[in-house]
Amino acid sequence: MDWQARCDECMQNIECDKTNDHCESCFSHDTMVWLIIITLLAWATSALSSPLDYCAAIAGKAWVSPLQARSCMHSFPVEPELKHNIIQVVNRTIALHASVNYQISAPEPFRNDVHEDLHKDLARILDQEYASEFQFHQDLFHTFRRLNDGHCVVINRCYDSLYISYLPTPLVLLTEADGKQNIHIAPEAFAVASAEFGDEIKFWQDALPTKLQGQLESLNGALVLAINDQDPFVAVNANTLVTGGYQSFGTRQNSFFSSYYRGQSGWLYQMGNFAQQVHPLTDAVQLTIKRVNSSSIDIITLPYRSRFGSASKNFTDSASYRANNCLATNETNGLDMYAQTSLALQQAAEKPLPIATFQQQPPVPRKEARKHAMNVLVDALPLTNIALPEVLHPLTPALNESYSVAQFYMLKDNTTGILALGSFSAANFTALQLSLLDGLEKVRSLGATQLLVDVTNNGGGYVCIAHWLHRIIIGSKSTTDPQAGLDTTIRAGPLAQLIVQRIIKDHMDPDTLLSYNPTQWTNASNIPFTPESDWLKPLRNLTINGQEDVFSQRLGQECQPFDVELPKKGLFEAKNVVIISNGRCASSCSLFSITMSKLEGVRTVVLGGKQSTQQQYCGVVGGQSTDFATMDTEIKTTHLKNHSLAPPDLLANMVQGITWRLGYGIDDPLEPEEWQDHPADINFPLTMETVNRPIAIWESVSKMVFNNFAAPPFVIQEP
Ligand SMILES: *[C@@H]1O[C@H](CO)[C@@H](O)[C@H](O)[C@H]1NC(C)=O
Ligand SMILES: *[C@@H]1O[C@H](CO)[C@@H](O)[C@H](O)[C@H]1NC(C)=O
Ligand SMILES: *[C@@H]1O[C@H](CO)[C@@H](O)[C@H](O)[C@H]1NC(C)=O
Ligand SMILES: *[C@@H]1O[C@H](CO)[C@@H](O)[C@H](O)[C@H]1NC(C)=O
Ligand SMILES: *[C@@H]1O[C@H](CO)[C@@H](O)[C@H](O)[C@H]1NC(C)=O
Ligand SMILES: *[C@@H]1O[C@H](CO)[C@@H](O)[C@H](O)[C@H]1NC(C)=O
Ligand SMILES: *[C@@H]1O[C@H](CO)[C@@H](O)[C@H](O)[C@H]1NC(C)=O
Ligand SMILES: *[C@@H]1O[C@H](CO)[C@@H](O)[C@H](O)[C@H]1NC(C)=O
Ligand SMILES: *[C@@H]1O[C@H](CO)[C@@H](O)[C@H](O)[C@H]1NC(C)=O
Ligand SMILES: *[C@@H]1O[C@H](CO)[C@@H](O)[C@H](O)[C@H]1NC(C)=O
Repeated sequence: MDWQARCDECMQNIECDKTNDHCESCFSHDTMVWLIIITLLAWATSALSSPLDYCAAIAGKAWVSPLQARSCMHSFPVEPELKHNIIQVVNRTIALHASVNYQISAPEPFRNDVHEDLHKDLARILDQEYASEFQFHQDLFHTFRRLNDGHCVVINRCYDSLYISYLPTPLVLLTEADGKQNIHIAPEAFAVASAEFGDEIKFWQDALPTKLQGQLESLNGALVLAINDQDPFVAVNANTLVTGGYQSFGTRQNSFFSSYYRGQSGWLYQMGNFAQQVHPLTDAVQLTIKRVNSSSIDIITLPYRSRFGSASKNFTDSASYRANNCLATNETNGLDMYAQTSLALQQAAEKPLPIATFQQQPPVPRKEARKHAMNVLVDALPLTNIALPEVLHPLTPALNESYSVAQFYMLKDNTTGILALGSFSAANFTALQLSLLDGLEKVRSLGATQLLVDVTNNGGGYVCIAHWLHRIIIGSKSTTDPQAGLDTTIRAGPLAQLIVQRIIKDHMDPDTLLSYNPTQWTNASNIPFTPESDWLKPLRNLTINGQEDVFSQRLGQECQPFDVELPKKGLFEAKNVVIISNGRCASSCSLFSITMSKLEGVRTVVLGGKQSTQQQYCGVVGGQSTDFATMDTEIKTTHLKNHSLAPPDLLANMVQGITWRLGYGIDDPLEPEEWQDHPADINFPLTMETVNRPIAIWESVSKMVFNNFAAPPFVIQEP
């Protein structure tokens, strides 16, 4: 063959090793060298005249590689004015967040978990240079995540969950027959992934090593011996440092694994942080596994795939990416409530707040959120909409009294009633309130004398639904009537005090639309404040972690009397009630669980936690949560927007959540409950047979807690 023929053959074969003898001669040939130089020059000129648009390259695609997604995200430089605006808004809004100074160093048992000085880090971020705006945002985002406080978060829709990265192999932590715990690929992994990811599943089928190609399903249940060549718990614990959301280390370990969730219209599946990620930062993971019934050890490398988020806005290139996803919208900021036409006000009232996308509850219209105080977890991932596979659903249909996130069942023993409660919010407050009462009365009429309340992945919701559920289960007692929740306090810095002054002295909220209006709240004797009362006072001056801080007087409850008629007596005896969850029970779910556990002695069970880690049955207590847009409405409505302490209008498409009221403790009534211990009574082992199967879990938990059966590892036998 002459050189030309050899070169042609070489060039056509892309697998050809261009350095072997066979090819080298063709690349060293003068003509080829010239050809290459010319090609490079042509490239360089075209690249200079039109830089590569990494966003245009992925526009319109549902699935891309993480590298493609982050190349697009990294293509925007920091705009100094925008960066300054974001830091200023965030910094001035945290003046209304109750926990800032506590979070500099939380007391035990969370001393090792929470030690974030927001002011210090914001000053650092202000001075720091970043290669891209995405890098700047990640620093800001993780600074807030380090609070491990699901109420206090900063989310930028330009970057967070714009693309969500997935693996088809969610993991679970199981307890084996010998009592040892191991990480496995979830037995339902393939059912979940093939239903949710459709044709994209082929990508992973093909990515498996030759021997396993097309056999993704055979990974179901596989024992995971290593993740990236290390003990799997290295990855689990690394995730606890970035996942945020919960103070407790154990709960953040649990966030790594998959779990179930009762949604408003069905049973849903949480993939867990291993198989679902907010940012496209990881390209692939190497797993060392032993498949079920196989004696060989397989090493597989699974690439992550990034899916265009359900809340993301379509784009065609980097300019439209930015215009549609990154800039403030007409809903990012608050409104002067009295400067709107009544039609505009009405329309806005029907829509959820912008932060609702990330609140871990069904979307609630603004007018309901204004009427009923809310305490709810915010995550950077929207609430899951991945279905729990049918085979894992409770077999018996739920009772007709069920509504939305509240589902009622009777176990086969005819003595255990189940309330599966995925949230303390639903579209209709009253319907949820009635359903809880009717459902509990129904299971009682069917013979239930004992009750399991499953609040797995319950991110909270209406404060008064938490009080209501506590009150109707327990009946009227000093611990439920009139206060069935926690007394609270509100941070009362100068801006908060000014807003109150405008309302009480200048009558700037005649229609009682604002959160700082005294008539919405009660004092520590549960007496409502009058319209003129300077309700934050007397102030409490505190020094927290060396910082001067100021809080309002102690506040009582605003939920009772309820609009719905109460049952004459409590519906269940506290000793016959057990609350179960995966520890991921937050906000209003914490208000309910804490009062039930600490005041009534109700037992708590956490499902499937690591044995050597103390499990907390709930976390992120708060008292009432709110967000930047809502606070901006308070500021604009009271004409304080020009004040030097007021945050300017936000220019980016961001949301910021904060804790507005902080609940007082039960064991230590003078300190916030937020930092007090919530140890679960039982850490219930999950097995291949029970994991992510609510009915199997309820049956085995019921046998153990009510009938004194020994806990698994011994697999519970059917009667
Ligand atoms: C966004 O793009 C997807 C896929 O190209 C399309 O199905 C969808 O209708 C578009 N949405 C809007 C609001 O244009
Ligand atoms: C944040 O606000 C405080 C006042 O509350 C101020 O002292 C500080 O300089 C601000 N930090 C930044 C980074 O702007
Ligand atoms: C493993 O083997 C057992 C016993 O032969 C069988 O019942 C089971 O279905 C097998 N599991 C899988 C995933 O192949
Ligand atoms: C915001 O703009 C959208 C369309 O761009 C419009 O439908 C909506 O009514 C506006 N909302 C407000 C509060 O003005
Ligand atoms: C529950 O509702 C369904 C559908 O409305 C009805 O067919 C069924 O009879 C009801 N069951 C009971 C026990 O009332
Ligand atoms: C529960 O009640 C059903 C219907 O009344 C009955 O068929 C069943 O035998 C009962 N189960 C037990 C364990 O008593
Ligand atoms: C909410 O539910 C209550 C009780 O079921 C019902 O009376 C009311 O009409 C519902 N409200 C709306 C807006 O659907
Ligand atoms: C609450 O207000 C009532 C009525 O003004 C007053 O009598 C009571 O002392 C107040 N309670 C507290 C704890 O301040
Ligand atoms: C709290 O501190 C402020 C000044 O920061 C002071 O005016 C006020 O008197 C103090 N209140 C109490 C109860 O000590
Ligand atoms: C803020 O100040 C500017 C300039 O002094 C003034 O034009 C504007 O009306 C003020 N806005 C409010 C909401 O008070």
